[in-house]
Amino acid sequence: MHGYTKLVVWLLLLSILSSYFAHGISDSMSNIQCLKDLKQSLIDPNGRLKPSWNFTVVDRADVYSDAICSFTCVVCWSSGDSRVLSLSLGKLGLECPFPRGLELCTSMTTLDLSNNNFSGPLLEHISQQMTYITYLDLSNNSFSGVIPASIANMTYLSTLALHHNQFDSEIPVQLGNTSRLISFNVADNSLSSPVPDSAALPASQLHGQSRALRGAAGQEVQEEV
Ligand SMILES: *[C@@H]1O[C@H](CO)[C@@H](O)[C@H](O)[C@H]1NC(C)=O
Ligand SMILES: *[C@@H]1O[C@H](CO)[C@@H](O)[C@H](O)[C@H]1NC(C)=O
Ligand SMILES: *[C@@H]1O[C@H](CO)[C@@H](O)[C@H](O)[C@H]1NC(C)=O
Ligand SMILES: *[C@@H]1O[C@H](CO)[C@@H](O)[C@H](O)[C@H]1NC(C)=O
Ligand SMILES: *[C@@H]1O[C@H](CO)[C@@H](O)[C@H](O)[C@H]1NC(C)=O
Repeated sequence: MHGYTKLVVWLLLLSILSSYFAHGISDSMSNIQCLKDLKQSLIDPNGRLKPSWNFTVVDRADVYSDAICSFTCVVCWSSGDSRVLSLSLGKLGLECPFPRGLELCTSMTTLDLSNNNFSGPLLEHISQQMTYITYLDLSNNSFSGVIPASIANMTYLSTLALHHNQFDSEIPVQLGNTSRLISFNVADNSLSSPVPDSAALPASQLHGQSRALRGAAGQEVQEEV
């Protein structure tokens, strides 16, 4: 009986450990894949990422390697942990459509693609994978089309900077429900609706920025928040 209990305890421990490691490995691999996909889809005309983003080193090491954490512009949660915490790719002259691979950086809280030459639409279901984003800066690019309503499902979002792009949709009313949002800028796009009226949105900041909110014909769309 005693031996049997011991066996059960060991088996339990083993299964907990193996699920822990399986998670670690799949998290690690998904974050590595995220940056691989990103590098593959990016046009980096000034070669700003090239010397540092070397996957030969990553592939040579074991799956727990935190080699991606020493890539330029990448910050990980902690050393020895290859989950990406933040990606700060501002002002590098990068070009490409919204990089799909980013969905695989599922633990990311900060994404800064500002001041580049990214173009095209955002992912419609942007919130489903990027669940923990608190800071999203896509400003000063050539993103276009619809501002996805699913951004409102990013529960922790506190900064949303979409200004100076070519979005031409309405501003999703759901954004009025993002309770943690403290900074929100959609100035200098071709938006066709006013900023949603909501107590949750930072009214003082919005007021200043709504003056710069331009309609398709370039006229101011709304003043009152
Ligand atoms: C990447 O790292 C490998 C191994 O250190 C090295 O041989 C190779 O030249 C590096 N590639 C680039 C593009 O720096
Ligand atoms: C937009 O980004 C480009 C490239 O970094 C920069 O030269 C330009 O000053 C930026 N424009 C604004 C309005 O920030
Ligand atoms: C952005 O990319 C377009 C082509 O996609 C190019 O015509 C334009 O010159 C680029 N702008 C900058 C600031 O690099
Ligand atoms: C937000 O999440 C809820 C619950 O998961 C889902 O029903 C809804 O369709 C999502 N909204 C958007 C705009 O994606
Ligand atoms: C905002 O959230 C409330 C409560 O969850 C819900 O009833 C309402 O429909 C939401 N409004 C929008 C525009 O998503």
